[in-house]
Amino acid sequence: MNPSNRVVILTGATQGIGRATARTLAQAGCFLVLAARTREPLDTLAAELNAGPTQAVAIPTNMGDTAQAANLVRATVETFGRLDVVINNAALGVRDEVVDLNETEARRVMDVNYFGPVALIQAAIPHLKANREGGLIINISSIVGRRAMPGIAGYCASKAALEKMAESLRIELKRDNIRVSTVYPGVTATRFNDHSLGRSQSGRGRLAGVPPERAAQTILRTIRHERRDVFVTLFDRAFVTAGALWPWLMDQFLSRYTGRS
Ligand SMILES: NC(=O)c1ccc[n+]([C@@H]2O[C@H](COP(=O)([O-])OP(=O)(O)OC[C@H]3O[C@@H](n4cnc5c(N)ncnc54)[C@H](OP(=O)(O)O)[C@@H]3O)[C@@H](O)[C@H]2O)c1
Repeated sequence: MNPSNRVVILTGATQGIGRATARTLAQAGCFLVLAARTREPLDTLAAELNAGPTQAVAIPTNMGDTAQAANLVRATVETFGRLDVVINNAALGVRDEVVDLNETEARRVMDVNYFGPVALIQAAIPHLKANREGGLIINISSIVGRRAMPGIAGYCASKAALEKMAESLRIELKRDNIRVSTVYPGVTATRFNDHSLGRSQSGRGRLAGVPPERAAQTILRTIRHERRDVFVTLFDRAFVTAGALWPWLMDQFLSRYTGRS
């Protein structure tokens, strides 16, 4: 769809890929409903975007709470009168091998990365259906939702759940003209690992990888072209394809790469 004048809910909007996406979509003429837990950076970002060509509102939201996730839709419709695009971007990692995975933390990751997005989608569906041109749901997954890595199983499982849910949802919503896309970023230069739960220290620190602006451009392209599965880089696509075609070879590669062989 043409992004201009579309009303977009964007979760996890204040840092990393979310913040870059907010700026990119604002430039493209989207009206933005920005969500994250912490009020101050949300207000700062909304003020920055409102100084430009578009309108942005900040709604503090914890996506780990399904009632708050659903409330985001109510606030959007109250402010803009409609909703066109939902972008489930907020997520939380957990860095532990399965043997050490803490159940409370693993459930929290599922709450933020899976149950919150499902609640947001459920609340959004009636409003997307009501549009003459339908609507678009974009879930930000990860390449590790398609091919899991050791040491982050709790996170990989939450992203795989999101992707499988989207596969069903896409077909369920087809006749209502609501489209569903999944974006699979690979390693992106954000503070995501610093924010992750878990006790393992391996891989902590600011991530090397592509700048978040590159993922933001991919998300804008996803709004424009509404493709089903979208990768940010060719390497990310190759990683997932190789993992599907030669899983045993990928097992060997990943055990070497992560120092486990
Ligand atoms: N960075 C990577 O290498 C990478 C790779 C593949 C996929 N991804 C995916 O890309 C997306 C964005 O990741 P990122 O690296 O940009 O993350 P990030 O830098 O850690 O930023 C996370 C954003 O989400 C918000 N957030 C965290 N927990 C939340 C909650 N419970 N409710 C609402 N908002 C919450 C944060 O603000 P508050 O703390 O104020 O809530 C912040 O705005 C995620 O879905 C992630 O899984 C990232």
